Amino acid sequence: MRESVLITGSSTGLGKEMALHLAQQGFRVYATMRDLSGADALHAAAKDRSVEVHILPLDVTDKASIDKAVETMVSDTGGIYGLVNNAGIGLRGYFEDLTAAEIRQLFDANLFGVMEVTRAVLPHMRRARRGRIILISSVAGRIGSLGVSAYCSTKFALEGFGESLALEVEPLGIRVVIVEPGIIQTERWSTNRGIAAGASDPNSPYFEWFRQSEKEADQLVRASSTTPTDVAVAAQHALTVENPKLRYMVGRKASLVVALRRYIPREWFERFYFKTVMRRVTRPGKASRPGQPVS
Ligand SMILES: NC(=O)c1ccc[n+]([C@@H]2O[C@H](COP(=O)([O-])OP(=O)(O)OC[C@H]3O[C@@H](n4cnc5c(N)ncnc54)[C@H](OP(=O)(O)O)[C@@H]3O)[C@@H](O)[C@H]2O)c1
Repeated sequence: MRESVLITGSSTGLGKEMALHLAQQGFRVYATMRDLSGADALHAAAKDRSVEVHILPLDVTDKASIDKAVETMVSDTGGIYGLVNNAGIGLRGYFEDLTAAEIRQLFDANLFGVMEVTRAVLPHMRRARRGRIILISSVAGRIGSLGVSAYCSTKFALEGFGESLALEVEPLGIRVVIVEPGIIQTERWSTNRGIAAGASDPNSPYFEWFRQSEKEADQLVRASSTTPTDVAVAAQHALTVENPKLRYMVGRKASLVVALRRYIPREWFERFYFKTVMRRVTRPGKASRPGQPVS
């Protein structure tokens, strides 16, 4: 029997590409999505690549739908080898322009949703004494930035969850792997951008800075050479190598900034990198360019 993998948020972007790529690598893929209107496009893309994917409804904020998808998969395949926690939403805007309700919704999808899906698969992996849980975090889980404080909070929290869970379940034969992509052109940067209502209000005291920071982000998206396939290859690696690392960063620019943060003295990084990011937004045209690599 081929190894079975459940992927959340497979209707677009990285989740869709991971579903197709992992199916091409021989996995039995259960591509889940909260809205099945994306199912035809995924089936068609799978047909183009001469592979099959099984599509199930799953909304990470709806426990009943999680349990149903996991039950279906287990009754089809006898268990679950891999889980890719990919589904997530964005929320862009300066903190004061975000409402508590928007932030809660973000945490429901990006953190509590991940925890619920993970909780549902763990008993099956424990019984099998094997399994791989992949968390799609972000460079935004390692470095904060402006205009994405709430999003970064969810990804920093996800990093803490993954790192701690890894210690709890490794003795049971289950490995947790955190994949940290840099900026990649997906629907995240168009239809699913998640701009907070208050951030689009010209009366916001942050309006001009936010607008400038969005322009900066768009430039970085256009300049990024990292692709959804790069993330799919990292996920494949995490699912297949005997002894995966806890973290894999995907993308050259993101890796560079995180390496800088690790190797140069903290005060230098904070003084030069963060100050430059701020200046690029508050005094556009006057700052030099290390970038603002957060998605
Ligand atoms: N693209 C980047 O630059 C980048 C960089 C670093 C990390 N990431 C992370 O990578 C992951 C995938 O992002 P992406 O770039 O592929 O963006 P995307 O195209 O917007 O994909 C996100 C997917 O999550 C799904 N989703 C949202 N809420 C859900 C819910 N409650 N239940 C189930 N599915 C839900 C969306 O479904 P709908 O189609 O129904 O909305 C969509 O298919 C996210 O966790 C994101 O934070 C992305």
